[in-house]
Amino acid sequence: MINVTKVVIVGAGAVGSTVAYSLVVKGIAAEVVLVDRNMQKARGEALDMQHSMDFQNRNVRIYAGDYSDCHDADIVVITAAAPLNGETDRLAMQEKSEAIVASVIPQVMESGFDGIFLVVSNPVDVMAYLVYRLSGLPKERVIGTGTVLETARLKHAIGEIMNMDPRSVDAYVMGEHGDTMMVPWSHVRAGGKSFAEILNDSPQRFPGISLEQIVEQTRLAGREVLTAKGNTQYGIASAVTGIVKAVLHDENKMLPVSVFLDGEYGERDVYCGVPAILNRSGVKEIGEFHLREEEKEQLGRSADTLRQAIRRIKT
Ligand code: LAC
Repeated sequence: MINVTKVVIVGAGAVGSTVAYSLVVKGIAAEVVLVDRNMQKARGEALDMQHSMDFQNRNVRIYAGDYSDCHDADIVVITAAAPLNGETDRLAMQEKSEAIVASVIPQVMESGFDGIFLVVSNPVDVMAYLVYRLSGLPKERVIGTGTVLETARLKHAIGEIMNMDPRSVDAYVMGEHGDTMMVPWSHVRAGGKSFAEILNDSPQRFPGISLEQIVEQTRLAGREVLTAKGNTQYGIASAVTGIVKAVLHDENKMLPVSVFLDGEYGERDVYCGVPAILNRSGVKEIGEFHLREEEKEQLGRSADTLRQAIRRIKT
């Protein structure tokens, strides 16, 4: 039996449909299914992408389906969530997103789904925890997008400062996908050299640039896009596509996804963005960096914020 890789995306809004199109263009999965309560929308998005197939690198089966299509899916991506509609803090979306996610997960599990959940719905760390609890799947198979997007934003910012390809920057943002995210600068390197040292060694080369300013720019990047265009889609969809590729192609790639911490970094019973190695089994291993005291405290504060939000889950 040929191993047909299949991804179901729940939510055919701006993020879900951009994820689908990104998977089609990159040819990462053989089959992509869009599920949305607005079936017409899902069908229209799928139809539109079918018309692009003549120009793609491989023929991907893309169609609108329903929850029964999850039964043999390798990955189910959950993008359905309350709109941010200008609320500045993603945690403010929790109640509305919780109701949506809590209605979706039982329908996915009813299909007999036994694959990997990738949660995108904000507040993503809290929603990942909710999916973990509701699905009953092992923690290694319930992953949130975590701080993968912040990390891409940080690497882009450093690339701009250094006039360097962001892919030559080695960095991981950790913690909440949100305001309490933190950057362990002791582990950030540009072109193989500590970025903090680069700034420190030649401040005249980077006037007005500070680590704090870069963190703030990264933290506010989502809001900046949201204010300018009313949503975000390309950054998050690319992050999702990278995670799906790491899993489906068994890459053993380390990405700062949101994972269930069970003692790692001294944190328990919380989903939080930390570097983790991803492959076909989901989370293969959590990377435990040696953090400086102030970095440990920042990560701890972020985890505490998320645990408080998790305690507010009503479902
Ligand atoms: C963002 C959304 C995905 O930061 O939270 O773009």
